[in-house]
Amino acid sequence: MEAIRCEKLCKTYGSGPNAVQAVRGVDLQVNTGELLLIVGPSGSGKTTLISLIAGILPYEEGECRVFGEEYKEMTEEKKTTFRKNTIGFVFQSFNLIPMLTATENVAVPLLLNGILPPDAEKKARELLTELDLKDKLDISPKELSGGQQQRLAIARGFIHEPKLIVCDEPTAYLDHKTGDMVMDILKNKVLNKDRAIIVVTHDPRIFSYADRVVHMEDGQLSEKSLS
Ligand SMILES: Nc1ncnc2c1ncn2[C@@H]1O[C@H](COP(=O)(O)OP(=O)(O)O)[C@@H](O)[C@H]1O
Ligand SMILES: [Mg+2]
Repeated sequence: MEAIRCEKLCKTYGSGPNAVQAVRGVDLQVNTGELLLIVGPSGSGKTTLISLIAGILPYEEGECRVFGEEYKEMTEEKKTTFRKNTIGFVFQSFNLIPMLTATENVAVPLLLNGILPPDAEKKARELLTELDLKDKLDISPKELSGGQQQRLAIARGFIHEPKLIVCDEPTAYLDHKTGDMVMDILKNKVLNKDRAIIVVTHDPRIFSYADRVVHMEDGQLSEKSLS
């Protein structure tokens, strides 16, 4: 089944002489059951593209359908609901909330979807335990290492079982073993026939987990052979 279809998708930041064309006519199709990697140099438009696909940024031209729904055809309210139910986004800079504990941070997407706090926190604790953070459950993210914060951000990206999970350089702060653990969970536990995962990465260790790799350069995509 088709999870994502982008056609001639374009995004320009700013206008006039300062305009930056970050995404230039991208065509992309991703099916359910697929883990897609997007690789490419810094500044090539990877974060912009996944932000368009996740409905975080608006686009001027082209189409982007996620599970058949086109963002441009949604009201703001519908878009908010669609995003919180259907999409998990793992930010490169984590975007954790320092006033909340590790468990509370990870529970946020469940609370937004109407799960009661005790149930949400129980599920968050279980997931963090699985990610080797059992002794950090009640600590503020400020007191955690980069790798530990990154695991919180990843857990928050899929705890609500979204159909599309988008991760921006999710292993940048993880050592080899932890990076493998996280990718193994994404690929073998989180991914299923109804879901799709997109991972932006510079990290060649991740390549073996991909079903397909596309290369981004100067706002455009090309298919890349896995061998
Ligand atoms: N908020 C913004 N305002 C203006 N330009 C931006 C903004 N975000 C990114 N850009 C520019 O868009 C281009 C693509 O950036 P980005 O999508 O972050 O690339 P990548 O994730 O591949 O490093 C770059 O030239 C970057 O400077
Ligand atoms: Mg980026």
